Amino acid sequence: MILTKPWLWLPSALAHDLSPYFLGLYSKFKKYESPSWHSFTWRGLEFKNPLGIAGGVDKNGDQVRGWWSLGAGFVEVGTVTPAPQKGNSGRVMSRSLSHQALWNRMGFPSRGADYVREQMESLLEPHFTPIFVNIGKNAQTPLDRAHEDYIFNLRRLGPYADAFVINLSSPNTEGLRKLLEPQALRGFLQTVIQVNTEEFARPLLLKLSPDMDEEQMAQVLELSLELGLDGWILTNTSTALRQGLSFPREGGVSGGPLAPLARERLIFATKILGPRRNGRLLISCGGVLSAEDVFDRLELGAQLVQVYSALVFQGPSFFRQVAQKALESTLREKS
Ligand SMILES: Cc1cc2nc3c(=O)[nH]c(=O)nc-3n(C[C@H](O)[C@H](O)[C@H](O)COP(=O)(O)O)c2cc1C
Repeated sequence: MILTKPWLWLPSALAHDLSPYFLGLYSKFKKYESPSWHSFTWRGLEFKNPLGIAGGVDKNGDQVRGWWSLGAGFVEVGTVTPAPQKGNSGRVMSRSLSHQALWNRMGFPSRGADYVREQMESLLEPHFTPIFVNIGKNAQTPLDRAHEDYIFNLRRLGPYADAFVINLSSPNTEGLRKLLEPQALRGFLQTVIQVNTEEFARPLLLKLSPDMDEEQMAQVLELSLELGLDGWILTNTSTALRQGLSFPREGGVSGGPLAPLARERLIFATKILGPRRNGRLLISCGGVLSAEDVFDRLELGAQLVQVYSALVFQGPSFFRQVAQKALESTLREKS
């Protein structure tokens, strides 16, 4: 695999830092395209295909044109923090080729909401594909004031985002996942939802952790329904899954080892929600590494699918490869 994918020769952090330059260059010469397969419309947003980039791939929204040139059906920008911050220092990412796994403890490196706003302002409306903005908190903001950071981001980016993703599930910002505990979550969501409803009325999604047990997940889903959230992303990285991998203890794992857990969580969510899902969006993310994986998540009940690791292990042509296979299978069905 490595022979045809030269970026895999580079250390993961260097490949990660260089990719925006290549993507920026590519988008200057390549027209936008979003191949049509499994198209659908949700809350007035048109998805020509259901495959997009996951949170953390384009943290600052400065590569959106590149994703549009590569054939993504939608883009997620962020995680954005209100003030610029560097994220964690030291070794922050690694990969295992044999397991097609990534490990990271980045901790929201972000150029801040004002920078992202400038990037979003520079994109023509209507957007070529829907753009979701994933929002988080600065590391030094105490948990009991976290809602202020999310509201700050909403207000800065509300005019430009097609939908927001509330990220409370990253394992790399100290204490963040505590906000997913039902008691904390209720107060937090009520405040954020109220501001959004009064000022922007953008769809709000919640990104969930794969490390929640079924009881906690059911509670979070029930509460989200009660408070009127518009959907969920399942899932973020896992703090477990170290078997056979030489990754450090802290941080989160994604890619191949996450696939069974992400599938399980999706199946569980569709079961709990049943008909009460009623137009709400389920996005599957975690260990989607092939076209077959994408089709599998759609069959399990996700309307949209996101990838991070696939872009590292399969490369940037992944969107086109999947589109090609989708079109081939449609033709086979018709003949
Ligand atoms: C290096 C790296 C950085 C990430 N940064 C973010 C982030 O800023 N916000 C977020 O919501 N998820 C982030 N994620 C999690 C991904 O969005 C995704 O949930 C996870 O990687 C599982 O998908 P995958 O198996 O396709 O990689 C990051 C993942 C990686 C590997």
